[in-house]
Amino acid sequence: MGRQHIEFHQAYDVEQLQRTEGPLAGAVEQRQSEDAETGAFTSIVTFPAGWQGAWNGYRRPFELFGLRGTATLGGEQFDAGFYGYVPSGTDSATFSVGQDGAQLLLMVEAEEEPKGGRPEIQDTNELKWADHGVAGVPPGLVIKLLRVDAENGDWTWLAAGPPGWQEDRAEIHPTVEEALMLSGDILLGHRGVMSAGSYFWRVPDIEHGPMLTLDGNVIFFRTKGGSMAVTWVEVPGWQKLVDDYRELKPLYRAPA
Ligand SMILES: [Fe+2]
Repeated sequence: MGRQHIEFHQAYDVEQLQRTEGPLAGAVEQRQSEDAETGAFTSIVTFPAGWQGAWNGYRRPFELFGLRGTATLGGEQFDAGFYGYVPSGTDSATFSVGQDGAQLLLMVEAEEEPKGGRPEIQDTNELKWADHGVAGVPPGLVIKLLRVDAENGDWTWLAAGPPGWQEDRAEIHPTVEEALMLSGDILLGHRGVMSAGSYFWRVPDIEHGPMLTLDGNVIFFRTKGGSMAVTWVEVPGWQKLVDDYRELKPLYRAPA
């Protein structure tokens, strides 16, 4: 059955749940999407200063992305902008939060036979933007590819679009596409303008777009069910939306 289509909501408007037990006891969770069948979920989790928890032996693999603050994961630095993949059954996933607290985007998968191994951690601040290799996408969009799952081909990546980047067609993917917008803006066809904190869980075959960003943007993305593949469709009335959006934000905004 899988998770229901969410497109899009403001992640920080989601109800704050103070956890008192389980792996997140003492933290505040904002559940963005969940699969009632498998228990897989995506949440924004806010940890108080000094929080510590051992996620060792957890039978679910999970990904995490640092949104705010400083922390360590398995003894390694894990600050804002760090990305981690934690295999199921690891014995080295103690998460320790620094003096300013921390906030994560946490993405937990279905339970599986524990695999063990160490968390894979990357500092995305230090990675360089690179070509995405997806034919047909208008020039200018760049990515930091964080992970490709060896078994199912799922991608995890950061994408950045320059100011004025525009795709005049709507997209369709055969996979789930999930995103949390980190900064900037993007007009998403008739669905409206996404901004920092906008979240979606887009099930396969949902038409979305066209797209125009005026300030540029950075977005955290995942696919589920395989790698990124795109087909495009024309959308009547798009030019009117472009014209209206451009009027909201002139190209040159001189200091007063
Ligand atoms: Fe898309």
